[in-house]
Amino acid sequence: LQSLPCIETDVIVIGSGIAGLYTAIEAGKDHSVIMITKNALLESNTRYAQGGIAAVTSEDDSPTYHREDTLMAGAGLCSSAAVDALVNEGPEGVQELIRLGTSFDVENGELALTQEGAHSRRRILHANGDATGFEIVRALAVQVQLHERVKLWEHHFVIDVLSSQNECIGALIQRPDGQRVYVKAAATILCTGGAGQLYRYTTNPDVATADGIAIAYRAGAQIRDMEFIQFHPTALCYPGAPRFLISEAVRGEGAVLRNIKGERFMEKYHDLLELAPRDIVARAIVSEMEDTKSTFVYLDITHEPEDMIKHRFPTIYETCMNYGLDMAADWIPVAPAAHYMMGGVKTDLNGESSVSRLFACGEVSSTGVHGANRLASNSLSEAIVFGKRIVNRIRGLKPLSAAGDILDIFHVDKERMGAPKQAIIERRLKLQKVMVRYVGLRRNEALLYKGMEELKRQLPIFHGELTRKEEFEFANMLISCLLVTCAALERQESRGAHYREDYPHKDDAMWRKHLLQHREDEIM
Ligand code: SIN
Repeated sequence: LQSLPCIETDVIVIGSGIAGLYTAIEAGKDHSVIMITKNALLESNTRYAQGGIAAVTSEDDSPTYHREDTLMAGAGLCSSAAVDALVNEGPEGVQELIRLGTSFDVENGELALTQEGAHSRRRILHANGDATGFEIVRALAVQVQLHERVKLWEHHFVIDVLSSQNECIGALIQRPDGQRVYVKAAATILCTGGAGQLYRYTTNPDVATADGIAIAYRAGAQIRDMEFIQFHPTALCYPGAPRFLISEAVRGEGAVLRNIKGERFMEKYHDLLELAPRDIVARAIVSEMEDTKSTFVYLDITHEPEDMIKHRFPTIYETCMNYGLDMAADWIPVAPAAHYMMGGVKTDLNGESSVSRLFACGEVSSTGVHGANRLASNSLSEAIVFGKRIVNRIRGLKPLSAAGDILDIFHVDKERMGAPKQAIIERRLKLQKVMVRYVGLRRNEALLYKGMEELKRQLPIFHGELTRKEEFEFANMLISCLLVTCAALERQESRGAHYREDYPHKDDAMWRKHLLQHREDEIM
């Protein structure tokens, strides 16, 4: 490794969703930044965010209400200090996004607000109707590209971060031509996003392979709350169509759920009906699917005027139309799909992980904001609030000591694995099916043990040298799947997004606590 080319910078930002773009722009004010993304700049989970960004901007709302809703959704596991940071600093974060060029929708001269599940007020800002994420990444990407101090490396893959004595000193990176380079930095920020691709059915794009979780785990950082995977209740479920997200805002604007017999059913499950917390709606849908022996239920917004639907949800309307489904006239077939990872790399209130100089921001992090279940649209605001805090913390960092050269990286056996690309794609699919079948929305001990067994069959991947991006991604996914499954087995209760059929109740006496995982735990 010592013979590899070595480049120095102040800050490495890994990932190009809202967290990566924003921290790179902010950090670039005072530091040199290398921003690395494994795909093109604009490809990220943020890009596909529809509903919007939650922050208090109206007179009849207040951070106290936003705080209460967030804590309620988090089912006893939120950190109140992290939630305070989110609700108090979120409104300024929104103003910051506007200053950086984001255009949110406006109605009667005020920021337009929509409603989503488990929010007591309309407080979700949106852009171009249902294309909020794309508008944010568009605006921030322009700033990154114009930034003199931010160097952008697209299509580069971060193999690992490098740590010495519990301090992160940079990252090992594979360039598009396969050459490797070592980048030394005083601060490394993981903004690698989520883990939807651990599951066969997900609203997330192909890039959401939980790389940052596995990277941080290998570097010795503590990982927290991995059992809490949020399934979005309403992803399109139609032959030949991807599990395209049908925003919760569609229910916020009046859409109702019906089983395949045409019956509304949410009154059987929760007082808030279609706007109950996501885990409840998702499990209610699965129950209805089982009772009616169907693979989907319907989302019905046909009672609303066509013009409103087209204007408010242009992307969803058009996507459904591409499959011959007219939202204004047809009920839309939907089913739950993996959507968001509440857990992640445990951080303090400044976004720093348990390995010093290694930070995590956005979905990859576990700041304590989401607890056991994220309140809809809190994630984009979290990225801005904690991105700002990370950059403030970095300003106070001393330069890296010259002695920080001893590299403690994750080693793979030298024997070449040589799996052809197709084989790795098939293995990825198999992994995703295992997770849906055994570690899905409804779990129990027997299923989880079976899942664990199946996952462990994939471990020989680590006996070979990994060289291709797909192989690194698969290895990262496998580690993350094992972390989710171990944590799901350990937590013998049901709370938030984690539901155990064999322990169907919340058990505060035993389990109102976080589960931490560390590489010493030997999950493999
Ligand atoms: C949605 O639009 O329903 C997704 C919003 C979110 O997950 O925060």
